[in-house]
Amino acid sequence: MTLNQSSIMKKKLRLLVVFIALSLPGFADEGMWLPQLLQALNEKQMKKLGMKINASDIYSISKGSLKDAIVSFGGFCTAEVISDKGLILTNHHCGFDAIQNHTSLEKNYIQNGFWAYSFGQELPNRGLTATFIVRIEDVTDQILKETAGISDEKERQSRIDKNLAELRKNYKKESYEDILVRAFFEGNKYFLFVTETYKDVRLVGAPPASIGNFGKDTDNWMWPRHTGDFSLFRIYADKNNKPAAYSPDNVPYTPKRSLNISLKGLKQGDFTMVFGFPGRTNQYLSSEAVRQVMEVSDPAKIAIRAKVLGILNERMRRDEQIKIQYAAKYASVENAYKKWQGEVLGLRSSNALQRKKDYEQNFMQRVNANPAWQSAYGTVLQELTDKYRQIEPYALARDYFTEILPRIELMGVAANLNGLVNAIEKDSTAFTKKKEETLHNLEDLFKEFNAGVDQTLFATLTEKMIKEQPASYLSPLLLERYNNHQQQTGAMAESLYQASSFTSLDKINALLNTSASGAVQAIRNDPAMQLYSSMTKTYGSEVGSKWSELQASINKLQRTYMKAQMEVFSEKTFYPDANSTLRVTYGNVKGYKARDAVTYDYYTYMDGIMEKYKPGDYEFDVPQKLIDLYKRKDYGAYGVNGKMPVCFIASNHTTGGNSGSPALDAYGNLVGLNFDRVWEGTMSDINYNPEICRNIMVDIRYVLFIIDKYAGAQNIISELKLVK
Ligand code: ARG
Ligand code: GLU
Repeated sequence: MTLNQSSIMKKKLRLLVVFIALSLPGFADEGMWLPQLLQALNEKQMKKLGMKINASDIYSISKGSLKDAIVSFGGFCTAEVISDKGLILTNHHCGFDAIQNHTSLEKNYIQNGFWAYSFGQELPNRGLTATFIVRIEDVTDQILKETAGISDEKERQSRIDKNLAELRKNYKKESYEDILVRAFFEGNKYFLFVTETYKDVRLVGAPPASIGNFGKDTDNWMWPRHTGDFSLFRIYADKNNKPAAYSPDNVPYTPKRSLNISLKGLKQGDFTMVFGFPGRTNQYLSSEAVRQVMEVSDPAKIAIRAKVLGILNERMRRDEQIKIQYAAKYASVENAYKKWQGEVLGLRSSNALQRKKDYEQNFMQRVNANPAWQSAYGTVLQELTDKYRQIEPYALARDYFTEILPRIELMGVAANLNGLVNAIEKDSTAFTKKKEETLHNLEDLFKEFNAGVDQTLFATLTEKMIKEQPASYLSPLLLERYNNHQQQTGAMAESLYQASSFTSLDKINALLNTSASGAVQAIRNDPAMQLYSSMTKTYGSEVGSKWSELQASINKLQRTYMKAQMEVFSEKTFYPDANSTLRVTYGNVKGYKARDAVTYDYYTYMDGIMEKYKPGDYEFDVPQKLIDLYKRKDYGAYGVNGKMPVCFIASNHTTGGNSGSPALDAYGNLVGLNFDRVWEGTMSDINYNPEICRNIMVDIRYVLFIIDKYAGAQNIISELKLVK
């Protein structure tokens, strides 16, 4: 071959590569795909990446498929069926609420773990559900019927609501099924989901938190990771295997499909996919919207949460009781706080804003070269920019309000009592019943309440609001009290918490120990109630209503922009933003370069647990039994060459809600359990970057090692189907 020929060949090859790259969906690893469209859109690429099964093995309505083993766990996480007796696997942090509810000082399942060694020992959980997807259908035409000519958004929405009601009325389904219709591609498409929800889901097993949440907040969103983040539940059904409310007569559910488990593990480059219910992403924002996330919204929310965490941390360190009361709140405030920091960092380091701008420039070039597009889409980006600039102050004020109010429990008490007032005013004869309900809700709230902590939060957060937000957005009553206390929020808080009866259940009980009208009056006269009313009212009229109006215009423009992108970049395959519906995401096992000179491997082992181990530490202590197993290398069938794998990462595109999703190998066998993402890559919700976006999974062999060797729960192991 001559030099010249080879360079022509190379050029041709490059063109071919460019052509293939353009025709493939997004980047190789990007995308949260609809399972019913895999065959048409993704199967070829999945096979090229190494998948050995067919799209119809993942989703089919004519035969059993992997989708029949996946459930939405309580609507907030994912779980998968792993035995033919309805055993399901999810994360420890997904099952945590259930674990916590069964925990007492005598039976401390958080600290010691919980294992049912027979069906009879499994623990029911009120309100916990598992939802299967029976089938998915495109209902765009029915839902958007006769909406084309409607330009007013409200009118359009009411037409859609009418179409939806009609669809629901006429749709044929079994009595035990539900239907759910969701908008996709910013309202350009609608899909209907037929679902089956089981309502008796019992706790089967959970490791101690020192294993299930090893590394806690320090390691959260971080790689390298060593957390055994799993718990086990079981779905129960009636005698006909159908959904039923909890009953001791219910029996373990017999699934259409359960996952096979492979102990082979994965290597660098291996194909892997994650099947679950990702919650929310925003991949198709305009550059102005991304700028606001990076420069305005995330930093404001981070700063507010930093204050909250500072106060909680200080008080929790000094007081054991407060530490227990505020543990769950602290973890949830910290979770997003840390994620947003990673998001800002990742958006900056990957040049997301410039990339968006380049993309928009490319879009405009194509639009301007085509007269039809120019008249339909020529101004959409500019209009989006204008609307986003207009909404900025309201969106920021909304962030302040929605971040601050829920952190002040006194306002939560007021919201509950406000609900009671509304209920009494509607029907005063319901007073006794409604009062009991309210007191019941408040009981739960006060279990995790300390008036001193709350007063400090109130003082600090209102100060932030007053100093940083325009006065016209602030409650006049708040400002009046602030001025009456020489502009000292500490003094203002002290007076309020002294004078209000909303600071303890006893005082509230006393307040309500009267007639319906007396209770209404007493609640209304309370200074905390007055402040709550004034704050919500001012927010509604000065911020909320303007925000909603602008947001409606933005939604309409986003819908047009989405449609335009799909038309203008027709060589690209688009995937819809996550919206808590069932999706498949796939990629390869691989490490990443986090920053200059720092490159991460893709697997962790138990050796890393021992490196992090700090006796007595609340995050990095581990049970003695685990240390003993490690020392003896007593790994049973689960170790590899004398080492015990713990976690691994891959380029699957996941988000919140994917927790508990199965990580599957090329054959569809269960090899891991998704539970987190790496910090540098949390911006994948807005701008996925294959260089640094990785999902974190716990290796199924570590899960089985804990069940088998640590807990000795042979009953569970014997239910599983291991494949060679
Ligand atoms: N970051 C993971 C998620 O978003 C895990 C959260 C639970 N763990 C924790 N330490 N808070 O849900
Ligand atoms: N921990 C998250 C969840 O609970 C998953 C991590 C992510 O956001 O990707 O769903």
